This record gives sequence, C-alpha cells and structure tokens, in this order.
Amino acid sequence: MKNKNLTFSGVQPTGNLHLGNYLGALKNFVDLQNKMECIYCVVDLHAITVYQKPSELKENILETTAAFLASGLDENKSIIFNQSSVSGHAELAWILNCICRVGWLNRMTQFKDKAGKDKEKASVGLYIYPNLMAADILLYKATHVPVGEDQKQHLELSRDIAQKFNRDFQVENFFPLPEPIIQKNISRVMSLRDGLKKMSKSEESDFARINLRDSKDLIMQKIKKAKTDSLPIPEKKKDLINRPEALNLLNIYSDLTKKSLDVTLNEFQGKDFSVFKKKLSEALIEIVCPVGEKIEKLMKDKTFLQKVLQKGTENAYKIAEENLKKTREIIGLL
Ligand code: TYM
Repeated sequence: MKNKNLTFSGVQPTGNLHLGNYLGALKNFVDLQNKMECIYCVVDLHAITVYQKPSELKENILETTAAFLASGLDENKSIIFNQSSVSGHAELAWILNCICRVGWLNRMTQFKDKAGKDKEKASVGLYIYPNLMAADILLYKATHVPVGEDQKQHLELSRDIAQKFNRDFQVENFFPLPEPIIQKNISRVMSLRDGLKKMSKSEESDFARINLRDSKDLIMQKIKKAKTDSLPIPEKKKDLINRPEALNLLNIYSDLTKKSLDVTLNEFQGKDFSVFKKKLSEALIEIVCPVGEKIEKLMKDKTFLQKVLQKGTENAYKIAEENLKKTREIIGLL
C-alpha cells in the first residue's frame, strides 16, 4: 500500500532564526503547504539536548511559531505545533532507539561537531537526537521532508531506521522512506565571515549571519562588512571555484531575486563587490525586513500564538495517536 503524500519538518526554538533557516527551510515550507498536507513543528525537545534557560525557551518557542507565520505559513492550511505537546514523539523515539544501531549514530557528523572535543560531557540526548528526529517524521508517516543540506545525513538515518523497522517486523511500507527536499541552488547558506562554514545561530559573531529580525541599517552594515576577495565579479561560474565567500553572496542574491547564478553573473560581471553589495542589501531588506516586522507584531499577541499551537497540537495528536497505536500492535506491546 502506498502512503499518501505528507510533509513534515521542524525548526529548533533556540533563538535568532537567520537567513539560512529562511532560504534553506522556511521558504520551502510555504511552497509545500499549497501542494500537500503539511505538518510543521517547533522542536522544543530537540532544543533541550543543550541547556536552555527556561524563560528564554518559552519565549523562543513562541518566536519560532511567529517566524513560521511571518514567513507565510497559514495555520488553517498547515498543522503548526510544538513537539513536546504531543507525547508520541518521545514514545516513538524510545522505540526507534531500540531499532537504531550504535554504529549508525557514531557516524553522525553533526554530533561530532556539536559535542566538540569533549564528547564524554555531551548529553545523551544530543547523541540520540537523530532518533528523535526520525520519530518526528515517522510518527506522521511523512513522505517529504524539506530541510537544509546540513540535515541530509539525519534524513538518511531516518530512512535506514524506517527500513529496518519494516523489515524486522515484516510490515512492508508501514513507515514510508522519507524523501529529503533540499533546495538545489542554495542548499547551504554560508557564514558572512567564512564561506566554508555554514551560517548558524551558534557562531559567535553576529556579523556572520543575517537574522530575520535585523533592522535595515544592521543588514546594510553586515553586508558591507561581509568577507569577499579583491577580484571583480567573474563572468563564468567556473571562475568562482576557490572563491567561497563570493559564491555565497552571489547565490544568496540569486535566490532572493529568483534569478539563476548565470543571470546574476551576467548582471554584475566585471563590477566591483561594492556595487553588488548595495544591490544585495536592497534585496535582503525587501525580503527579510517584512518577515522580521511580522514576527515582532505577532510577538505582541502571545495568546494568539498559543492558540495556533493548541489547535495544531489537537490535529497532530490525532494522526500521531493512530500511527502509534498501530506501531505498538506491530511490536507486540499490549
Ligand atoms: P535547525 O533548527 O538547526 O534548522 C532549521 C532548518 O534550517 C535549515 N538550516 C539551513 N539551511 C541552509 N543553510 C543554512 N546555513 C542553514 N542553517 C539551518 C536546517 O537544515 C533545517 O532544515 N534537526 C533539525 C530540526 C528537526 C527536523 C525534524 C527537521 C527536528 N526534527 C524532523 C526535519 C524533520 C534542526 O536542528 O534544524
């Protein structure tokens, strides 16, 4: 039996959503909500794999919800909720902990990056985080998962877990193998300070990223200071090899203005970066600032945001409970 198309994705409420989250994930969430049933989750249980100050976590859960809506998600079209309010995520994660192999988790590069040198001191939650992510997706039998490139390995693990579960319990296609949906043109938005590092919430310098709530002035300053090189903008893509910062800025501009990289190069070839940076700032201000302003406005009505989450939770819970009931039966739990 073929599973029906369903999208699931999640964003951690750890504050400072940035351009990478927007171009790599949120923008695609919005495109998909008109194509199939979609479930978007504020993954608060993922956030606590690293210590979060309780008062800040509460605020960040609401702010991420606001960012979903400000990016164009419609709570009447998509299910929007926070992970911890549907306990099935944690229950299925436990079951999947028993399916996933230690060797599989040991290959996860994000754990190695996040845990740093002293792995012994990382939380167990951080280690088994990919299994919770698999549970998020499989709990709804999602078929499509829009994410940035950095989540690709976790998605592959989710597929391996789904396949092993189906095989171990001889339930062909019970869990669909989720397909990652990764933007082709800009799958990884890079840091403004180092074109070889991804743009991230955790990078120390705020000048490495454009936050969705940055003001126009700050965006202009950040782009002015963004690292480039001394060469002019080339005519051909191949001349961007070994120029990661230049490539990143040109990719961001192309994505924002819905042009191909070739068209952008044609527009700016031979020009200095100062000319291009002015245009890039304008494009960013046009797209990012309205999202930031909407987030700010929505944050003034927290009751509304809580209602959105509550409605989403009720709808998510129904789907989750039905799938979980079947899962328990398959395993042999009474
Ligand atoms: P998180 O919260 O780190 O990021 C949310 C989404 O933003 C994408 N992203 C980027 N895309 C392009 N360039 C960047 N620099 C960049 N930085 C972040 C991420 O790829 C992600 O799509 N584990 C996930 C959350 C999660 C999830 C899930 C996702 C939990 N359960 C189930 C999909 C399905 C995470 O930490 O994303």
